[in-house]
Amino acid sequence: MCGIVGYIGKRNAYPILIKGLKRLEYRGYDSAGVALISDQQALNVYKTKGKVSELETFVAEKDISGTIGIAHTRWATHGEPSPANAHPHYSSSARLALIHNGIIENYAVLKEKLQSKGYTFKSSTDTEVLVQLIEYIQDKRNIDLLAAVQLALREVIGAYAIAVLDRDHPDVVIAARKSSPLVVGIGEDEFFLASDATPIVEYTDKVVYLAEEEIAVLRRGEPLKIVNLHNVECEHEIQTVALNLGQLEKGGYPHFMLKEIYEQPDCIRDCMRGRINVENTNVVLSAIIDYKERLLAAKRFVIVACGTSWHAALIGKQLIETFCRIPVEVEYASEFRYRDPVIGSNDVVIAISQSGETADTLAAVELAKSRGAFIYGICNSVGSSIPRATHTGSYIHVGPEIGVASTKAFTGQVTVLTMLALTLAREKRSIDEERFLATVQELNRIPDKMKEVLKLNDTIAELAKIFTYAHNFIYLGRGFAYPVALEGALKLKEISYIHAEGYPAAEMKHGPIALVDTEMPVVVIATRNDLYEKVLSNIQEIKARKGKVIALVTEGDTVISKIADTCIELPETIECLDPLITTLPLQLLAYHVAVCKGMNVDQPRNLAKSVTVE
Ligand code: F6R
Repeated sequence: MCGIVGYIGKRNAYPILIKGLKRLEYRGYDSAGVALISDQQALNVYKTKGKVSELETFVAEKDISGTIGIAHTRWATHGEPSPANAHPHYSSSARLALIHNGIIENYAVLKEKLQSKGYTFKSSTDTEVLVQLIEYIQDKRNIDLLAAVQLALREVIGAYAIAVLDRDHPDVVIAARKSSPLVVGIGEDEFFLASDATPIVEYTDKVVYLAEEEIAVLRRGEPLKIVNLHNVECEHEIQTVALNLGQLEKGGYPHFMLKEIYEQPDCIRDCMRGRINVENTNVVLSAIIDYKERLLAAKRFVIVACGTSWHAALIGKQLIETFCRIPVEVEYASEFRYRDPVIGSNDVVIAISQSGETADTLAAVELAKSRGAFIYGICNSVGSSIPRATHTGSYIHVGPEIGVASTKAFTGQVTVLTMLALTLAREKRSIDEERFLATVQELNRIPDKMKEVLKLNDTIAELAKIFTYAHNFIYLGRGFAYPVALEGALKLKEISYIHAEGYPAAEMKHGPIALVDTEMPVVVIATRNDLYEKVLSNIQEIKARKGKVIALVTEGDTVISKIADTCIELPETIECLDPLITTLPLQLLAYHVAVCKGMNVDQPRNLAKSVTVE
């Protein structure tokens, strides 16, 4: 994880770097640092434990001049969060400074080699090994920085996105990547560098996404040059990014998470735009049509994902199996990649990822691809690694998600999975016309129904106050609501640090019901559908043990309101689309509990948005 930023041009680098780090703080925020080659040609490195704001305080009285610099916000892998372990790292002579996102897997061997040559280390990071190695190679062979970086990276096993400064050559930044993302922004006589395009869009919309093992040479007064580790020049395509600044700011909301929860009606509209026709009679995901023979020939689908995206995958399984009658397996990408899965050319693998950078999901994609499976990506971040590694796919188009807890990406993923299942089912003729039309028309009504749900915000904020001091929560659902229960529990635990478990409602009596007492809040998704009566019985079982039931019910429900302690009434929809409605109050509940507890909602402890390490 970690976020990296760089600048070289005519402006003062420091403000650009700090602003960029703030945009990337979602990637990690346990320490931050900046390196600048000053107007007096000094290579100044400033770094602190904690957030970017702490770095700003730390440098208040320091020399922050310079038109070339690199900066880093860290999510610790090797070595605890501390000033010494923060990036940038100096080389021994303090001539070079380097920032790194990723993991150097063979760092111990390289470190031993350097130690035997007299090098000493100030940190316990893998990154310091890399900068020392570059300097060692440069000195030993008397070569320039680019050549030394190329040779060093040829020795490295692992993942990296790096940027290096050389005090003696203040006109160039060298940057490289393998398995960790890196984007170069091209302005007028200036270059920007970042882990994603968000720090760059304020200055230019022209970007180049570096490919695997490519090195960018950002030199003043020269065009962008990209070479590989063997110094062969690489072709590159300049792309135009469509992000705007408003999408990257809070827009009057106290937190990104709340803004993103509120954006969902518009996001889902954007996600469906051009895919559902104006008459609301058809839905087409173009990638499905383009590859329909390959998809329909598949014996089964396997969906790989992590975290919230894995929850969306569980809903996708039910949608595809229901509409398309194709067997679907859902796998944690981290398990799939290491267990020699039975996968081959008869399989379609769907990879779901908001960031498009999750290391385990990317590795699962590569493994499945190497075994001949056809890979379909469902991602949000345009141009990220997973969409580039897949055969085809669909973007969810919900805009940048900055709050670490995923909200609008989840509903966007479920919307795309619904459209995928409908498009494929129509091609396969496995869905009858009436059901197809009813589902498309209802899908189109979902954004308005989401707006109705968001009107419950104040009620849910009041409810949250009652449960702020709970130590545990249980979330229950069945069928399509079971993954929603998992997602509700995940939201609560990640931002409020309250222990929460999601369970299939009927599974309670096989063990977890032992946890229920007067202190235990149990959130039950009990909207009207075929399993309503069954869920009602499950609620009665909890009430019989004096648990506190918070039930999500369909508007006008008069039965559960008599039994549950609290009911949240939601607009009616069809069962398969219910997750798009029931998820929202659970996001709001988690949000308000965390706010009541005074937690940092957008940047919960120990987490990072983009998990680019395994
Ligand atoms: C939870 C959350 C994580 C991510 C997971 C996968 O709120 O955000 O569980 O869902 O890290 O990330 P992506 O979707 O980027 O692959």
